[in-house]
Amino acid sequence: MSADDDKRLAAQAAVDLVTDGMVLGLGTGSTAVFFIELLGKRMEAGLKVKGVPTSDASAQLARKVGIPLVTLEEHPVLDLDIDGADEVDPALNLIKGGGGALLHEKIVAAASKQVVIIVDEKKLVERLGKFKLPVEVIPFARGSVEKTLQDMGATVAIRMKDGNIFHTDENNIILDCDFGLIDDCCSLSQKLNGVPGVVEHGLFVNLAERVIIGANNQTKILKKP
Ligand code: 5RP
Repeated sequence: MSADDDKRLAAQAAVDLVTDGMVLGLGTGSTAVFFIELLGKRMEAGLKVKGVPTSDASAQLARKVGIPLVTLEEHPVLDLDIDGADEVDPALNLIKGGGGALLHEKIVAAASKQVVIIVDEKKLVERLGKFKLPVEVIPFARGSVEKTLQDMGATVAIRMKDGNIFHTDENNIILDCDFGLIDDCCSLSQKLNGVPGVVEHGLFVNLAERVIIGANNQTKILKKP
């Protein structure tokens, strides 16, 4: 089984949690793509749901497969958010933002009654931090934030795409930070939240209720301890 097969399996199990009338958070990334496509298939068969997309890419795909899109103004509380992750620890804390959509993803997760994360088993780690932590920054603050993050112990690299600085859907930049393995993700999250110019970061602490893992033709579920 490939990682893609595992992602599709996890996505299928998440689609099975969706019921008529739900307003959903639609995540971003390759695993979320499987979810959105499979959800589109259920809608063809008569399911009625609406979605708040977490990126332009997910919005485009959702429109293509026939999922009606709504905003957080219309639906400030969502029933269920389904999204991928770059790393998941045993307490269901996450690193997200590999796809650059962490700001909208965190807003949507925080607005959702239930957050379900779908991953292949390679995303499971004992401690977060091998995957470089994405930190979204206002372009004006790049220099000062970079220095603060270095003073906090991180090796910092600005994210590039096709030879250019990558910009998020909100036109911010991303600094990918290597803090080494993270001892206390809650404390690091709070410190990062306090840095002027940091818009958001990819540590999702205490947001996921459930993680569905696709592995070897089966799914496993982790629930918040
Ligand atoms: C995007 C994300 C994605 O959920 C994360 O990068 C996982 O992506 P994939 O499903 O492609 O492995 O956080 O900002």
